[in-house]
Amino acid sequence: MNRHDDGSAGDADYGMIGAVYNRYRQPEPRIGAMITTALGDARTVLNVGAGTGSYEPRDRVVTAVEPSASMRARRAPDLPPAIDAVAEALPFADRTFDAAMTTFSVHQWPDLERGLTEMRRVARGPVVVMTADPLVVEAFWLNEYAPQVLAVEARRYPAMDRIAAALGGTVDVIDVPIPLDCRDGFQEAYYGRPEMFLDPAARRACSAWSFVDATVVQRLDRVLSADLASGEWDRCHGWLRRQPEFAGSLRIVVGTPAPGKP
Ligand SMILES: C[S@@+](CC[C@H](N)C(=O)[O-])C[C@H]1O[C@@H](n2cnc3c(N)ncnc32)[C@H](O)[C@@H]1O
Repeated sequence: MNRHDDGSAGDADYGMIGAVYNRYRQPEPRIGAMITTALGDARTVLNVGAGTGSYEPRDRVVTAVEPSASMRARRAPDLPPAIDAVAEALPFADRTFDAAMTTFSVHQWPDLERGLTEMRRVARGPVVVMTADPLVVEAFWLNEYAPQVLAVEARRYPAMDRIAAALGGTVDVIDVPIPLDCRDGFQEAYYGRPEMFLDPAARRACSAWSFVDATVVQRLDRVLSADLASGEWDRCHGWLRRQPEFAGSLRIVVGTPAPGKP
């Protein structure tokens, strides 16, 4: 597996992204509550691609795995230090944890099936995957301004049935409503705050922007700024500024092992 200078093991370089990640990508408590529910009564939890620790439950015994040194260094002091490892080769014995989780990470893994099989192997109970459904990613209004970015997202996010097949057992796919004031600045989190897409650091905190060239960003800056100034964006989408929740592409996939499986 090729790793970037800071150890990043996915398709994005978190040595570059890590510096702004915490500022824009804080865990959203209402989404966190859904992850806590999905983890059930698990006492020991493995968090894979843990990053700076978003969505890591404070009331469980958590083991975190994170390949990027830059992200590991930015974990909150009250969280356990993360182990330098990758999803595809988890350094734990079979059935070590009650549950395993991963948020906003699977789309970056070089080998999705291997990573999810590893999570299934080391967890006795649920494997919880928060990700986006690639079939609906391009329905977001940002597609009118930067279609190349959402094409990158649609290409990177694995299909729901691919995740389900890799997890095996019983799989539930849960739609995650996005609140208007969502604290976690992924793309759709700004559905009612279009001005955020004009903030270069907010864009940098979403790895898809690192895969498009400068002309895409220049066009977005020019056209979205003009549409905001003229009122065109508000005429087409302005109701979103007052819509309390957005039903977008965000999903929580919960894999429960088949009964009787070792
Ligand atoms: C968008 S960040 C998400 C971090 C955190 N889970 C969150 O929700 O904020 C994606 C993380 O996945 C990690 N990652 C990428 N490829 C990985 C792999 N093969 N194994 C484990 N983690 C990986 C990256 O280093 C990065 O920290």
